Amino acid sequence: MESAICYSQTSAVQQEDGIKLLNQMNLKEGDVLLDLGCGTGFHARDAAGRVGETGRVVAVDPDKSRIEVAKNALDSNSPTNLQFIVASDKDFPADDAQYDYVLSSFVIHWIKDKESAFKRIYSSLKPGGKFGFTSQDDPKMHDVLIEMLQLCGPQVFQETAQSMHWKSANYYKELAESIGFEVTLMDVAEKTFSFPDIEAFINFFYGVFHGKFDRTLPAIDGIREKYKGQSLMVTIPRLTGIFTKPVNV
Ligand SMILES: C[S@@+](CC[C@H](N)C(=O)[O-])C[C@H]1O[C@@H](n2cnc3c(N)ncnc32)[C@H](O)[C@@H]1O
Repeated sequence: MESAICYSQTSAVQQEDGIKLLNQMNLKEGDVLLDLGCGTGFHARDAAGRVGETGRVVAVDPDKSRIEVAKNALDSNSPTNLQFIVASDKDFPADDAQYDYVLSSFVIHWIKDKESAFKRIYSSLKPGGKFGFTSQDDPKMHDVLIEMLQLCGPQVFQETAQSMHWKSANYYKELAESIGFEVTLMDVAEKTFSFPDIEAFINFFYGVFHGKFDRTLPAIDGIREKYKGQSLMVTIPRLTGIFTKPVNV
């Protein structure tokens, strides 16, 4: 729960990119959208406003504590066309052809079997439906992140760094086409953002990695000392894809 709250407080970068993607997807009133890997629900709430009362948003994430944070953020003024469910790419509600859109913001690199996920997404979309996602184009891990995770020990290093399954833009394009999608957009652009200090850097990755490393571990105090008083710049090869299921299938 602590890491889910931390994620919700430190995920401005993901939020900004997801909003950009939602804008590019051109949702309209009445649309039905799946938010696959919704985290703490920021984009699902945004999308629910865009599709209006005649539309519907189904938001799923396998991390129970993130879904709990998402549900707790709802109040009497929240949209009622929004449903949060604990589920993953393998078991999200996918009766044939029910969604106009599948949105997946910074999730696909957590999924190892991308072919099976893409096939499931494809079959859950209505003809003409769109799958939009953001990720990174086969990135290099930040040096300070590697340094910090290694100090947490080999097991933690494996469970964190090696839990991501990065692929290139070309890989996604070829996979999508092999399944039957048309490529509407495939864009890679460098994005730079900065953390004001090392604590903000540590908290960001503590949230991203679901609290899989202990941020109070004395072993990482050396990192705090080494980068004390410095801001940290991160440059990522941000990848955006929008794939369309053909109308005549
Ligand atoms: C970086 S977060 C992005 C959350 C949210 N989409 C956002 O943009 O803020 C990645 C999310 O993917 C979820 N996730 C990991 N494996 C997944 C899977 N197999 N299926 C669906 N979601 C998954 C994680 O639990 C996590 O909440």
